Amino acid sequence: MKILPNFPIVDSALPLPAQNQQFIDALTSRRSPKIVDLQNAIAPSAEELPDILKVAVRVPDHGKAVPWRFIAIDGENRGILGRKLAQILVARGDKMDAAQLALEQTRFERAPLVLAIVHSPRAHPKATIWEQELSAGALGFSLMLACHGFGYSANWLSEWPIYDNEASAIIGAKPHEKIAGLFYIGKTQIAPTERPRPNLDDIFEYWNDK
Ligand SMILES: Cc1cc2nc3c(=O)[nH]c(=O)nc-3n(C[C@H](O)[C@H](O)[C@H](O)COP(=O)(O)O)c2cc1C
Repeated sequence: MKILPNFPIVDSALPLPAQNQQFIDALTSRRSPKIVDLQNAIAPSAEELPDILKVAVRVPDHGKAVPWRFIAIDGENRGILGRKLAQILVARGDKMDAAQLALEQTRFERAPLVLAIVHSPRAHPKATIWEQELSAGALGFSLMLACHGFGYSANWLSEWPIYDNEASAIIGAKPHEKIAGLFYIGKTQIAPTERPRPNLDDIFEYWNDK
């Protein structure tokens, strides 16, 4: 399916950065919701999603390798995929009671839309695999910011499926690829609460020739 954004692609000179208090406030107010708070959230519409993605993909990417792609899990496919992944655990003999099994089966139904970012490494003359992985991570956060900008919350979860080759393959990763993250997305009226943030004194120093 072709998805197209509702705004033009800018390929000419761009405006210079200028202080933008609204933008700073928006960055400072972003926070992940609790996953349970996305249960009854609303998904981006078919019109909004390409716009969100168009903003999200504006990430640094050495050599324009484009070492990432998205897989969207929505609607009834959330339940179908959840049941397939739960079946992996059942087949392996994992001891789960009925409640645990139900949680596994409904894992993707915790939000109306789940986006998998797949890290798809390329053989590239300049961009190392490490740089490509970092670009995939940057895309993860860029996606969260883009969601925030469009009024959606996003929660970045790995959990067991991204570390499991069989589950990752069912989600859609090819053998050479890795799932960078599963992003649970939705519009909710439940305000997130802040969490402690790093103390800059602990993580910052000027280099000096000691
Ligand atoms: C790569 C990555 C993977 C994560 N995986 C999980 C996870 O599997 N389970 C979890 O509870 N939190 C996970 N988190 C943390 C949540 O995303 C957490 O809500 C987030 O760090 C909160 O920070 P924020 O409010 O600044 O967005 C992960 C975070 C990152 C960056």
